[in-house]
Amino acid sequence: MKRVFLETYGCQMNVADSELMAGVLERAGMELVESAEDADAVILNTCAIREHAEQRVLGRLGEFANLKSRNPDLIVGVAGCMAQHLRARLLDKKRVLDLVVGPDGYRNLPELLRRAAQLPTAEVRLDRDETYGDLEPKRHGGVRAWVTVQRGCDKFCTYCVVPYTRGRERSLPLADLVRQVEQAAAQGFREIVFLGQTVNSYHDGAHDFADLLRATNDVHGVLRIRYTSPHPSDMSERVLDAMTTCQKVMPHVHLPLQSGSDRVLAAMERSYTLAQYRTLLARIRQRIPGVAVSTDIIVGFPGETLEDFAATQAFLAEARYDSAFLFKYSARPDTKAYRLRETVDDDEKGRRLQSLIDQQHGISGEIMDGWLGREVEVLVDGPSWRGKGAREPQLHGKSREFKTVVWSDDGALPGTLRRVRVVGATPVTLLGESLAVPRPEPLVTLSA
Ligand code: SAH
Ligand code: SF4
Ligand code: F3S
Repeated sequence: MKRVFLETYGCQMNVADSELMAGVLERAGMELVESAEDADAVILNTCAIREHAEQRVLGRLGEFANLKSRNPDLIVGVAGCMAQHLRARLLDKKRVLDLVVGPDGYRNLPELLRRAAQLPTAEVRLDRDETYGDLEPKRHGGVRAWVTVQRGCDKFCTYCVVPYTRGRERSLPLADLVRQVEQAAAQGFREIVFLGQTVNSYHDGAHDFADLLRATNDVHGVLRIRYTSPHPSDMSERVLDAMTTCQKVMPHVHLPLQSGSDRVLAAMERSYTLAQYRTLLARIRQRIPGVAVSTDIIVGFPGETLEDFAATQAFLAEARYDSAFLFKYSARPDTKAYRLRETVDDDEKGRRLQSLIDQQHGISGEIMDGWLGREVEVLVDGPSWRGKGAREPQLHGKSREFKTVVWSDDGALPGTLRRVRVVGATPVTLLGESLAVPRPEPLVTLSA
């Protein structure tokens, strides 16, 4: 078996895990290919956060069943959170499957693939010590490197499947992370994004998250550092201190709220009250002037009344987030909330979701309009997709606040910083005008 096709679903941690798997496979002499048709084995790295995520993967497995009927030697594997969540049940249910491997089984992936070629194989033990800290991921190109600093989660929010799919919280040693960041910088990555389910609770026994920010702020070649997702209860003054003193740490905080009602927050076991969250948000904005803040909210948690929902609407208006990821509650087997009777039907969840989407759209639009006429520092990502339809080629990149900026191609290279003046805005994109010194016109134009 030589050629492997890897397809990724879910959050950035899964994207980072796929890069880890790619590294493991290549070191074992295997080759990553771009299409399932060219592969000896396909692996789906899956997500279990909402039911919809699992349904998408089940649908995709149907397509691989077709492929396998034409190529019976094809190995089909499911990795990631859904593999861990459904475990051997997946092997029974989906006869197309040869391999089920959970998030702590990637170190032996080549061996597991070889075994799966002989008989259906499941590796779904959770390992509270596995961090893969010593393994080099094969990162995708681009200017941004995602670095997993912590695996698992110990918070057990009652709606959430992650503690069951990824196991107990554990942090990678600081020295491993500094080495990974140095390596990424040497490979040309200019922005580092630290990943963890509650990334700011990072602790390797000797160093906390503030230490990690400080240690990597000094790495030569790195221009910017970000992190996601911090948990409100772990947002210490030490982390805010580090954010204000480390010049490379960008002014953006993703601070999941989940609900604006204390009753619902308590039922979710989020471990903070709305008042505590409000105080924290004000403190972050005070310590980091100009900081952009984004959030996650769930509507329709069991027992969420119209009054609870109105509290979420009121807080959304008050908080004025730059952006928000909004979700309908999805009951997940294994979780505590799964045992609760659902009280909000799907139509009503849909109405609540749409109302928050519309509300946030308006707020994001106003905030983006506030950028008109200002200068932003952009880290160049590369040519913009929009460029295709546009009259002239365009570039896109991210501002310090993680806003997407698009401007006419001024020759700026990916991975460099550019100053751009904002001349237009939509709720999700800033349109800019390059402030680069224009190249002088050639004095002589040669014509044929
Ligand atoms: N660890 C991060 C979030 C991980 S999942 C944190 O605690 O902030 C990303 C988001 O998915 C969560 O913030 C939550 O808003 C949403 N989510 C998690 N479980 C969900 C469920 N069962 N139904 C709907 N949304 C859910
Ligand atoms: Fe899930 Fe809560 Fe852990 Fe986030 S903090 S991963 S929402 S259990
Ligand atoms: Fe991420 Fe989905 Fe797992 S959000 S941690 S891939 S359940």
